Amino acid sequence: MELIRLEGVSKTYADEAGPVLKNTDLVVEGGGYLSVEGVSGSGKSTLLYILGGLLTPTTGRVLYKGKDVYSLKDRELSLWRGRHVGYLFQDIQMAQALTVRENMVLARRFGNDKGADIEGLIQSLGLEEVADKLPGHLSGGQKRRAMTGCVLVRRPQIMLADEPTNDLDREWACRVMDLLQEQIHPERSLILVTHDPRWAASASVKYSISDGVLIHKE
Ligand SMILES: Nc1ncnc2c1ncn2[C@@H]1O[C@H](COP(=O)(O)OP(=O)(O)OP(=O)(O)O)[C@@H](O)[C@H]1O
Ligand SMILES: [Mg+2]
Repeated sequence: MELIRLEGVSKTYADEAGPVLKNTDLVVEGGGYLSVEGVSGSGKSTLLYILGGLLTPTTGRVLYKGKDVYSLKDRELSLWRGRHVGYLFQDIQMAQALTVRENMVLARRFGNDKGADIEGLIQSLGLEEVADKLPGHLSGGQKRRAMTGCVLVRRPQIMLADEPTNDLDREWACRVMDLLQEQIHPERSLILVTHDPRWAASASVKYSISDGVLIHKE
């Protein structure tokens, strides 16, 4: 089942001379696991923002089950994102005035269905000791794991993971990648952006991006 499709998508930011994403076509199926590898500045995060309904493309269309996402009104678009998209941002983003556990409770309210078990995720992510702390009081790796919990708890249909192993040691990087891969399901997909060829190779469909051009690797 097709979840999301890009048709001729390009993006030129207002202050950029040329497009940072060029005439991109892409299909993401339910159960799909895609990786996008590329050097810094090649357009990886831009691609994920566009896929996730966060950045309007300059040309082309983004279709979710055949419906043009960017033709939705602002409120419908944000409801769509809340229901279907889980974005693991490259920069840590959590509500700073809420504890880790409270952030997860809040995140689950926006989810697609009843959501995952919060206490189970706290354990899987090794967050027991910091669950009642504010994000500002956590180490970089703890913040990264907490943010991962906030996205996993929603069981999103389209999981967009932008360098999710940043700040993590090797052991935690493996565990976080396992958790992300475990959520793939016939109706849920994972799109992974990474600098790391090892993780890129773990996907079933592999792309690289160079100067805004998306290339299918196999
Ligand atoms: N909001 C913005 N406004 C203007 N230019 C931007 C904006 N966001 C990104 N860019 C530019 O677009 C290009 C692609 O950026 P993008 O963040 O998509 O790259 P990336 O592949 O994710 O890089 P990294 O690996 O460093 O995260 C860069 O040249 C960047 O400077
Ligand atoms: Mg990026």
